[in-house]
Amino acid sequence: PKSIQVGLLGIGTVGSGVFNVLQRNQGEILRRAGRGIEIAMVADLDTARAQAAVGKDVQVVADARAVIANPEIDVVVELIGGYGIAKQLVLEAIEAGKHVVTANKALLAVHGTEIFAAASRKGVMVAFEAAVAGGIPIIKSLREGLTANRIEWVAGIINGTTNFILSEMRDKGLDFDVVLKEAQRLGYAEADPTFDIEGVDAAHKVTLMSAIAFGIPVQFDKAYVEGITKLGAQDIKYAEQLGYRIKLLGITKKTAKGIELRVHPSLVPAKRLIANVEGAMNAVMVHGDAVGTTLYYGKGAGSEPTASAVIADLVDIARLHTSDPLHRVPHLAFQPDSMSDAPV
Ligand code: HSE
Repeated sequence: PKSIQVGLLGIGTVGSGVFNVLQRNQGEILRRAGRGIEIAMVADLDTARAQAAVGKDVQVVADARAVIANPEIDVVVELIGGYGIAKQLVLEAIEAGKHVVTANKALLAVHGTEIFAAASRKGVMVAFEAAVAGGIPIIKSLREGLTANRIEWVAGIINGTTNFILSEMRDKGLDFDVVLKEAQRLGYAEADPTFDIEGVDAAHKVTLMSAIAFGIPVQFDKAYVEGITKLGAQDIKYAEQLGYRIKLLGITKKTAKGIELRVHPSLVPAKRLIANVEGAMNAVMVHGDAVGTTLYYGKGAGSEPTASAVIADLVDIARLHTSDPLHRVPHLAFQPDSMSDAPV
């Protein structure tokens, strides 16, 4: 079958990761998806940088609408971020009948209801595995792996930048500002890092998990949001002396009064697994009535971890377009004739 044709809107840290991983793992991805996934077009205001990232064989344009208008494009991957032009472009892509894959938690947490309704009307997917906890497949876990459960609560470290800051302050005694700059250099922080340090990014993500876990509309405006900017070295030290670590947790929980949605620094007993999640790593705990407590751990930010999640969504979409049920729900990822690394 013909490869899925993908148009990327924005090729910064995550976009170049998507391009590189698709190139490197194209054999595996083809076998798993049942068809190839090809970046056919890229839109970025910095066309020179974009062309350098994807090489001369991929068409690069400055105007994102040229991608949306291209009838060859099956899926638009939105990696621009923010609520502004990204919202307009996502809605236009949906109207044009394209599936959309996005890492934009801010957009979906605030305008998700409108966007998902538009996608339902047009019968296209809006997939957002990369929007929550980077490379950890938490959206799929909530939606697929745990689908039999009544979810009781979800709690996690879902902002890499603030976890990195808290870890470095504790371990190396470094200043807040110094560590934040390092997080920006490493590509963890949002374009506007106040979203990270004020807890807004974590609140966007927990809002999305809450909507999936409890089947409620996305309601970022209902979240209680408190970041880490009021914490000092002393707080971290005193917590340590008392046997705790300070972690910025995003929590959503079903209670008798309704659903809680909150982000704030929390004291976690140092011997708990989640207290030992360090650096830019993320971890999410989900408690379901049947399964009990489960824990998911991995890189929550950065180029290739986030790309891993974007491509997982692209593979899902590729599988939608195949008539072979074994590609929709594969028994095994590899066909027997493709096992070059057979056990000896
Ligand atoms: N700024 C985010 C973080 C990036 O630090 O976790 C991933 O969403």
